[in-house]
Amino acid sequence: MADASPRIVVTREIPQAALDLLREIGDVWWPQPDKALSPGELHQVIAGADAVVSTLQDRVDAAFADAAGPRLKVVSTVAVGYDNIDVPALTSRGIVVTNTPGVLTDATADLAFGLLLAVTRRLGEGERLLRSRTPWSFHLGFMLGSGLQGKTLGIVGLGQIGRAMARRALAFGMDIRYSGRRRADEAIERELGATYLSFEELLSSSDVVSLHCPLTPLTHHLIDADALARMKPSAYLINTTRGPVVDESALAKALADGTIAGAGLDVFENEPEVHPDLLELDNVALAPHLGSATVETRTAMATLAARNAVAVLTGTQPPTPVRG
Ligand code: DGY
Repeated sequence: MADASPRIVVTREIPQAALDLLREIGDVWWPQPDKALSPGELHQVIAGADAVVSTLQDRVDAAFADAAGPRLKVVSTVAVGYDNIDVPALTSRGIVVTNTPGVLTDATADLAFGLLLAVTRRLGEGERLLRSRTPWSFHLGFMLGSGLQGKTLGIVGLGQIGRAMARRALAFGMDIRYSGRRRADEAIERELGATYLSFEELLSSSDVVSLHCPLTPLTHHLIDADALARMKPSAYLINTTRGPVVDESALAKALADGTIAGAGLDVFENEPEVHPDLLELDNVALAPHLGSATVETRTAMATLAARNAVAVLTGTQPPTPVRG
């Protein structure tokens, strides 16, 4: 055992089941569960922590490690994405970093597909029309959308969530293409009937482009004005990964001038801000980072994060470490 009563700081509200796991082995300190902490507040509350259970809103870097001090053994983020964490800065100090892959795959793919349906079938637009009490009547040309059957879905990043998105698209009769740093195993390509293309070929040939790559320096603004210009004017863009993968100003312009047909966005460049031009457009379906937001998934994420922290604090191998 590392410590009879380690100090565990939890930076945001997490489900009770996860708190219970943490409380079995340590003193859990939960500063201000109802709002994100500023960097200054964060640094204050983690001082002397043995473990920090964090979220994607916390900047975790060398300054964070310094503020926590020498007892810090593990940072367990309740998220699959860890672009907010400078992993080498932590691991070089012997601090273990863990994340929560796997448990949010289906929920995130469901939401991505939901956004795809919302934008192609104009669901948000239709709801806004009704709520504005605008008179309407059914006719054969009223609010026509775009069908998915026989269309191509281009997936950027065929990881777990990209593959789950592909399975949903197959059920809707779509053809799957993908691009990414690596070609997938033959068995996966066969299961999904997926064709590997260069990023440029994927952009120009897909009816829907769905982003499932992590945010890294290489994928920052991967979808910029140039990438958008390569897409078909009838194509849709779906982003459920991280906002900065898309140049939001370029996207707003492309949606306004018809460079592409529409977009579905769950994530934004400067969350919680949304580019004001996007808010004015009808051809974009927007959600406030809801990808993993189901009771079941958030409970699974938080309990996995708690198990990771408990494992490190009790000297065993955490289930899902980030290798860095
Ligand atoms: C993640 O886990 O990275 C998501 O963005 C949070 O749901």
